[in-house]
Amino acid sequence: MHTQLLPALPEHIALGGKLLQSGQLVGFPTETVYGLGANALDAEAVRQIFIAKGRPQDNPLIVHVACPDDAESLCHVSSTARKLMDAFWPGPLTLVMPKKATVPEVTSAGLSSVGVRCPAHPVALALIRAAGVPVAAPSANTSGRPSPTCARHVYEDMQNRIPLILDGGDCQVGVESTVLSVTGDTPVILRPGKVTQLEIAQVTGKCLIADSVMRPLREGESAPSPGMKHRHYAPRGNMTIVQGTDEKKVVATLKRMYLSSENACILCHENLLAAFPGMRVFSLGNSPEDTARVLFSLLRDMDALKISRILCQGWDTGGVGLAVMNRMARAASFDIIEAE
Ligand code: TXA
Ligand code: MG
Repeated sequence: MHTQLLPALPEHIALGGKLLQSGQLVGFPTETVYGLGANALDAEAVRQIFIAKGRPQDNPLIVHVACPDDAESLCHVSSTARKLMDAFWPGPLTLVMPKKATVPEVTSAGLSSVGVRCPAHPVALALIRAAGVPVAAPSANTSGRPSPTCARHVYEDMQNRIPLILDGGDCQVGVESTVLSVTGDTPVILRPGKVTQLEIAQVTGKCLIADSVMRPLREGESAPSPGMKHRHYAPRGNMTIVQGTDEKKVVATLKRMYLSSENACILCHENLLAAFPGMRVFSLGNSPEDTARVLFSLLRDMDALKISRILCQGWDTGGVGLAVMNRMARAASFDIIEAE
């Protein structure tokens, strides 16, 4: 199948809407990462997503809607869920709610709940409206690769597998949405993202974080969010995260490790870039928000450059730092050390 990569102009968005209506897949931008969309109510179309990504069948998809009212036909919306929609939609918050029978089993991977989100991206919203149906969309990467944050990444992974990719430029957030279960009494973050625990608690009074967010699953333990149990992106190179508040120690540790490895690369905060003269070093920006925006793209670059040792400075897990460290820790198979 030939893949068209087109700028997200109105006529191309209209074409995307038609393709979705006819059961085909479309790659499209959201504010978090690019999505791989299909009509969420068409079981056969949704099956094509799992095939195109090579995604395990037991990993449920997020259903994208253009406004809060459109969630009503898909799931039971509690008053807490409605408050969260009013506060954060459109935006990078996925709400896991009790599903209605309209959502096919394949979309929710057989669960009794469904994740729904209204993305804050004009192209995504226009595409959902053009399709006239809710759009199931995981991140548009091949399973096991970093999520795509620009149209070129989608093309790398999906060329010849889907008919259309809409190019809407680089994603502003860069890590996937916060996944929040609101099926119980207290909301629980299953996957951290741009919308933080504190921001959610300001609306709901309370918000917990699933304790598997910052550690690997134990042998035989079941994941609160099925996506967390699957192997996540592991770069070809061996990756280690160096933590620490004492910058001198962080620099010394990164340098020592760099010099004792072959074909290594350092990823560090912008202010430390000059501390590694003559070494291969890339910037993670000045804040966790900056790092969120560039992390997946840098990890793809590490593979393209065939780097064998990736030495990456971490962030504190406060605020968006939790989402960044959750993704980094998985890429590094939880190899995290304290600088000394
Ligand atoms: O930002 C995002 O969320 C992006 C864009 C495209 O919207 N989408 C995305 O989808 O990251 P995906 O499929 O790559 O990740 C969905 C995550 C998985 O970890 C999945 O297990 C979890 O959400 N999830 C979806 N439905 C769920 C449910 N009913 N219960 C628990 N976890 C659920
Ligand atoms: Mg994904």
